[in-house]
Amino acid sequence: MAGPGNILVTGGAGYIGSHMARYLIEKEEKPVVLDNLSTGYREFVPHDVPFFKGDLRNPQDVARLFQQFPIQYVMHFAAQSIVTESLEKPLEYYENNILGCLNLLKECVSHSVKGFIFSSTAAVYGEPEHIPIREESLLRPVNPYGQTKLVCECMLNDASRRFGLPVVSLRYFNAAGAHPSAEIGEKHPQETHLVPNIISSVLGVQKELCIFGDDYPTADGTCVRDFIYVCDLCEAHYLALGALREKKAAGIFNLGSGKGYSVKEIIRLAEKITQREIPVRVAVRRPGDPARLVADFSRAKKVLSWEPKADMRVMIETSWRFAGNDLESRRTQGKHMKEEDIKESL
Ligand code: UFG
Repeated sequence: MAGPGNILVTGGAGYIGSHMARYLIEKEEKPVVLDNLSTGYREFVPHDVPFFKGDLRNPQDVARLFQQFPIQYVMHFAAQSIVTESLEKPLEYYENNILGCLNLLKECVSHSVKGFIFSSTAAVYGEPEHIPIREESLLRPVNPYGQTKLVCECMLNDASRRFGLPVVSLRYFNAAGAHPSAEIGEKHPQETHLVPNIISSVLGVQKELCIFGDDYPTADGTCVRDFIYVCDLCEAHYLALGALREKKAAGIFNLGSGKGYSVKEIIRLAEKITQREIPVRVAVRRPGDPARLVADFSRAKKVLSWEPKADMRVMIETSWRFAGNDLESRRTQGKHMKEEDIKESL
């Protein structure tokens, strides 16, 4: 890689950010990763990508980063992103997600950054009135996580209007899957997401899978979600970067597949792919879960020429391979550890 990084990837040691850093390297771009490693993994960042350990809540860290690197474009992934956790720790979410974005935004404005791509979420819609959800739908988040992302979108819009900073906000639906190499994937200290939890049950890392509610107003009573492959998300960011470079497009885009799968459907598909039975237990509804979220991604298709390529099977297969690989490397590293300790550390 020639020269220092000029595309900042915040949260580049985390799930989606680490896939993005790799994607940019494959495209011969020059990313630089900032991460505070609170939930990210240093080993997820490719060796040839400059790494800056820092915290966006600390303005000095952000200022130092911009002094060290000639940053022209920003992809802002760093955030806390777990709905249930946001209900338990709302102020932490406001501080981390909003203050972090604000500090970053100020520095972007003072350095006349050429474009800002923001990781937003379907959680800004709350419980939608119409499916599939369009970008103009009502914005009524039902949890602090969604609120914080909506506030950031507003800050970015206002900064864009006043200072001419070109901004793209990408509202992801349910990101899933892992890198085809199986070297990086979804791995959180305390996993709450459906696909990795299903895989943990397949691998025997967790005893059973909890289905949170089977009394929703959906065909089989379980929640319906729109899953989107992590590498398809990366492609959307790259197309957005191209659009910003050509000064062609800015704005807000839904990123989903347009297809809804119920929790039970995903479990059945995972059983078919892995050829294993998944023990399940039905539990009460999880607070803050809307019944159905399915994207209308026609704007991203029209303006960015983006279309998801991978289907649910790819997301499950790659997640399975990544989790198996990760489990294996932990076993090899910790031969002296007891099996329960390995499970604990996952
Ligand atoms: N679920 C289970 N059992 C589990 C985990 C999840 O039944 O062990 C259910 C949930 O109740 C929900 C569905 O599976 O109905 C999907 O849950 P996830 O936790 O995988 O994802 P969420 O829909 O809660 O959240 C995701 C992202 C958020 C984003 C949101 C937008 O993690 O960042 O989608 O819809 F805001």
